Amino acid sequence: MSKKKVLITRRWPDVVEAKLKALYDVTLNETDMPMTGAAMRQALMDYDAVCPTVSDKVDAAVLEVTEPRAKILASYGVGYSHIDTDAAKKAGIMVSNTPEVLSECTADLAITLMLMAARRAGEGEREVRAHKWTGWRPTHMIGTKVSGGVFGVLGFGRIGREAAKRAHFGFGMKIIYFDPFPVKPELAAELGAEKRDTIEDVLREADVVSLHMPGGKDNYHLINDARLALMKPTAILVNTARGEVVDAKALVRALKAGTIVGAGLDVFEGEPNIDEDLYSVENAVLLPHLGSATASTREAMGWRVLNNLEAFFDGRTPPDRVA
Ligand code: DGY
Repeated sequence: MSKKKVLITRRWPDVVEAKLKALYDVTLNETDMPMTGAAMRQALMDYDAVCPTVSDKVDAAVLEVTEPRAKILASYGVGYSHIDTDAAKKAGIMVSNTPEVLSECTADLAITLMLMAARRAGEGEREVRAHKWTGWRPTHMIGTKVSGGVFGVLGFGRIGREAAKRAHFGFGMKIIYFDPFPVKPELAAELGAEKRDTIEDVLREADVVSLHMPGGKDNYHLINDARLALMKPTAILVNTARGEVVDAKALVRALKAGTIVGAGLDVFEGEPNIDEDLYSVENAVLLPHLGSATASTREAMGWRVLNNLEAFFDGRTPPDRVA
């Protein structure tokens, strides 16, 4: 029997690509250049499975296909707001993602950002590298103590809970959270986490607010001028979720005005094109979407896609089917 034709849109870890080659008639992306929408639409007609990732825009225009050969978009990444799932459904294409395996590393990065913003690590490093450090003094680059503070989680799913676990057990922080969906009481209880009824309640009370909700239109600019104004002037905002959840212009205003003391951002609306004003805001830590970027996690994400493909080609429901 001839091998199934599979396309992956970007470079993946070597070991995963080697396995894909062994199992399928796979087309890799050796140059690692993003694919155009037109090329992706064509791929849906030419391949049995297409494997995009979080930086590919698989919108309604790409999915404007009739009788595509591909009946699955086996995406590499947990977030899937880059795929128009309604359009995929209309085209008869199912969608899967790669949950769980990246929760710990993404949570680690949320804590990295919290600490970098609180302790002004980015600013400090820039000062040293610029040969501008003039030595220790009692008033030099004073930051914010996070230990013992209140860690507010918006979106108490797997990644949010992992971040809360680190904040609670590592830094003795009290955990409060808001999630629009029910959370199993035992998952909150193990962290002593207290539910709040609204996003606003969390924003008013937290010393650090960490965002962990999905992107897409439902949470577009959820953090805006009005909500930032509710935060403490000593508070820090951390975003490892999706860029569009935060109105970057409002955040720049809040950071410049001292409405909040700092922010740590791993994701940006329209990334890699970052809102120009953010570059000059010293109290914003900016990282290039590194949440899941560890060798073992990126491999695990690949294995997760392979499981989904295997199930799909066996005629079973992919374990991580999301649409
Ligand atoms: C995801 O998988 O959605 C992450 O943003 C990639 O790190």
